[in-house]
Amino acid sequence: MGRVQMGRVAAGLSVMSLLFIFGCGEGGGENPVVFPPVPAEYADKHMPDGWWMDPKIVAEGKDIFEGKLDVDVNCASCHGRDGKPKKRGARDFRVGENMKHFSDSFWFWRISEGVPNTKMKAWKTKLTEEQRWKVMAYENTFAHGGQPADHSKEYVPPPAQ
Ligand code: HEC
Repeated sequence: MGRVQMGRVAAGLSVMSLLFIFGCGEGGGENPVVFPPVPAEYADKHMPDGWWMDPKIVAEGKDIFEGKLDVDVNCASCHGRDGKPKKRGARDFRVGENMKHFSDSFWFWRISEGVPNTKMKAWKTKLTEEQRWKVMAYENTFAHGGQPADHSKEYVPPPAQ
């Protein structure tokens, strides 16, 4: 094997190890999603018909997510404008393998009430129910290359924990 080839192999290996390191640091590897049962008051809440795929709803959700509707509600400041987390511990919404296990009622509950012992606070006093559904429809695009997607069709119940 010539020197040039050796160099290529070495470069390939270091790229792979970088991918490995970053791959584990993000995307829930260190921060697995837990799926406690949805409380009764949220269990019957569902995304309004057609909203996952409605471009107008998704666009309104984007404004909420990015703090354009209300500067005090800036999901992007922790979750990143493209769903790639900015604050350590925040959920990576680009990871479809996690997001497919989010039922609409679980997702809505978490946004409404927050996640105990994390920086994720309850948004129900800042956002109406409709606004919470809109921001969800937008968040869902991160795992779909920025396009609206019908989450109800890809939902898979979480594995037993
Ligand atoms: C101050 C930082 C911060 C802000 C602002 C924030 N989040 Fe979060 N969010 C977090 C963190 C940290 C987690 C991780 C909690 C966990 O590990 O389950 C999280 C988790 C989530 C989850 C996943 C819940 C779960 O059980 O895994 C959703 C959905 C979510 N956030 C949506 C939003 C939405 C929508 C907004 C804006 C209305 C928002 N977040 C604003 C920090 C934030």
